[in-house]
Amino acid sequence: MNFFVTIWCVTFMGLPIASLISKENDIKVIVDVLQSFHKPSNVIANLCWKSSTIKYLVTTLAELENPKSVKVVDEVKDKDLVSGGKNMFLVDVACKGVGEFLDKAQSRKYFARPYRWFVMNRPNTKKKVPSELDEIDILPDSEVYVAQSKNSSYNINLIYKINRNCDWIIEEYASWSTGSGLNMSSRVKENVIAIRRRNFQREPVVTSMVVSDNNTIADLELMKYKEVDPVSKSGYNQMTPLYEFINATRRLILTNTWGYNVNGSWTGIMSHLSQGKADLPGSVMILTNERMQILDYLSFPTPSSIKFIFREPPLSYQNNLYLLPFKSSVWYCIGSFVVVLIIAMYVNAYWEARKTAADEKKQDGSMVLIPKVSDVTVFVMSAISQQGSTVELRGTLGRFVIFILFLVFVFLYTAYSASIVVLLQSNSNQIRTLADLLNSKLELGAEDTPYNRHFFMTARDPIRKAIYEKKIAPSGSKPKFFNLVDGILQLQKKPFAFNSNLGSAYKVIEKYFYEHEKCGLQEIAFIQGNYPWMACRRGSPYREIFKLGLLRNAEHGLNDRVNRIMFSKKPVCTVRGGSFVSVSLVDCYPILLLLLYGMILGVLLLLAEVLHHRRCQLFSR
Ligand SMILES: *[C@@H]1O[C@H](CO)[C@@H](O)[C@H](O)[C@H]1NC(C)=O
Ligand SMILES: *[C@@H]1O[C@H](CO)[C@@H](O)[C@H](O)[C@H]1NC(C)=O
Ligand SMILES: *[C@@H]1O[C@H](CO)[C@@H](O)[C@H](O)[C@H]1NC(C)=O
Ligand SMILES: *[C@@H]1O[C@H](CO)[C@@H](O)[C@H](O)[C@H]1NC(C)=O
Ligand SMILES: *[C@@H]1O[C@H](CO)[C@@H](O)[C@H](O)[C@H]1NC(C)=O
Repeated sequence: MNFFVTIWCVTFMGLPIASLISKENDIKVIVDVLQSFHKPSNVIANLCWKSSTIKYLVTTLAELENPKSVKVVDEVKDKDLVSGGKNMFLVDVACKGVGEFLDKAQSRKYFARPYRWFVMNRPNTKKKVPSELDEIDILPDSEVYVAQSKNSSYNINLIYKINRNCDWIIEEYASWSTGSGLNMSSRVKENVIAIRRRNFQREPVVTSMVVSDNNTIADLELMKYKEVDPVSKSGYNQMTPLYEFINATRRLILTNTWGYNVNGSWTGIMSHLSQGKADLPGSVMILTNERMQILDYLSFPTPSSIKFIFREPPLSYQNNLYLLPFKSSVWYCIGSFVVVLIIAMYVNAYWEARKTAADEKKQDGSMVLIPKVSDVTVFVMSAISQQGSTVELRGTLGRFVIFILFLVFVFLYTAYSASIVVLLQSNSNQIRTLADLLNSKLELGAEDTPYNRHFFMTARDPIRKAIYEKKIAPSGSKPKFFNLVDGILQLQKKPFAFNSNLGSAYKVIEKYFYEHEKCGLQEIAFIQGNYPWMACRRGSPYREIFKLGLLRNAEHGLNDRVNRIMFSKKPVCTVRGGSFVSVSLVDCYPILLLLLYGMILGVLLLLAEVLHHRRCQLFSR
């Protein structure tokens, strides 16, 4: 028979009290315990009581302050559960078929959070935990109340096991008597469940850890070699207070990668966690969508992230230095001014030539500017480039024009060269995004870690993909994955960007860089969601306890201590400008290009002249 009663706040009058005296106290206990949660509850009952007794239970529950719904069922079904609300299962072990009901509930994981159980034990027995519960995993995330009557008083206990193979731990919740009602124990009143259950009594808790070097295990506590496995070492030390908090034995299993989904199966730490071999990862993990199904992210112990670090490259890596000193409007003005001067000079020279022709070769004509466009242009060019000239203009007006010409270009030249000197020593701050990085002349490299290799190789969006294919692993050359110190030393020597864990990278930078080299360090993130979090296995019965322990570590400053030992913050730039950089070929590139084009043009003009000469000879014959 499956009767199904749902009643919301129904008042029911005229009960046949006499017939249910035997269960009256049981019902009062149930009601009082439910009341003590101070929360709405959805009660799912599996009881073999008389229907009048059940009716009485339902009515009493319905009269409570917090809304309650009651369903009496023979079998557990998902549809009976209220989502989001607190469900409480109610069973009486004296009933037949309870074993089956409990087994089904266990297979559906109803003994874990957030479900509550209220088990009515047989009256006046010595066994505080009924034998029906022996095979059931009631772990620290469960909430199972067992009520037992002794004469007219009741004891209500919470029971759980630390793990499947441990003995029962019995925690007194409250006592109940007809006279004084529910008397809750002070321990229960003061602490939440997770805190009360944090003592694991030296039971093992397994951590899966990444180790890439054979010496790491010996160095876990000393932390002497901070460049090797820094994430694992800091994770290990950040978990030590957690293990002390929960009084558990630390057991490590080692692997070589954090773990990614490869062809549908997990590797590394993720495989240990997904198979339930471990409860905790040994270090922080990067947040990804796929991992959310296996991991519960709990705390954020290490504010370090993985980014490209680079020193601001010289300005010439991004711009043509030789155009920068003047704004483009100034360049246009100079251009038009030159044209005006050429015209003025030409008019002058022409005028003067006519005058001297009239004076009949008084003087040597080789010193006078010939009124030809090419001669005048060469004259102006020599003024621009601060060269003298053998020819001149003799008249007052001509001299005045020459004076203006040279004076203007002296000032322009002074401004220009002063500006170039400054620009040669300045750095570019124009690299702000990954696209800038891709299009810059910087070389790129990455720290050789499993996560870098994974995230670079699996990058999907066009810019990240292009960065990997063009800059990190161009086809036909060795992929640029370096160990931390090698990468940082390259960063010191040449324009280079290195993707690595910032905290460890700055530690190495502090060690190897001169003060002035610590200036102008920039960061750009490549990996999305690059701030790693501490996590635990999703569905772990210890989740709440771990969470409290990890947050406690953060509150007590224990994480910060480890971070300060293992990692460094971005170094402060104290002596910017004290450095001196030699001019490199890159700086002179536009000039060399100009020279090359000039030479090519020269050769072409020569050829044209030779051809022209040949043709003239041909016609003159
Ligand atoms: C329960 O009652 C019986 C008899 O009435 C008595 O002998 C026994 O001591 C009582 N037990 C408790 C725990 O009070
Ligand atoms: C409640 O129980 C404690 C001991 O657990 C006892 O000292 C106290 O007197 C009890 N209170 C009532 C009202 O019975
Ligand atoms: C840790 O567990 C052991 C074994 O049960 C126990 O002896 C010890 O007192 C516990 N330590 C703490 C601090 O609770
Ligand atoms: C690390 O130890 C393993 C097994 O002991 C050995 O095979 C391996 O060569 C060692 N690696 C290094 C770098 O020493
Ligand atoms: C994953 O599958 C692809 C194609 O089926 C195969 O080429 C590749 O080797 C597999 N990778 C692993 C690690 O098994």
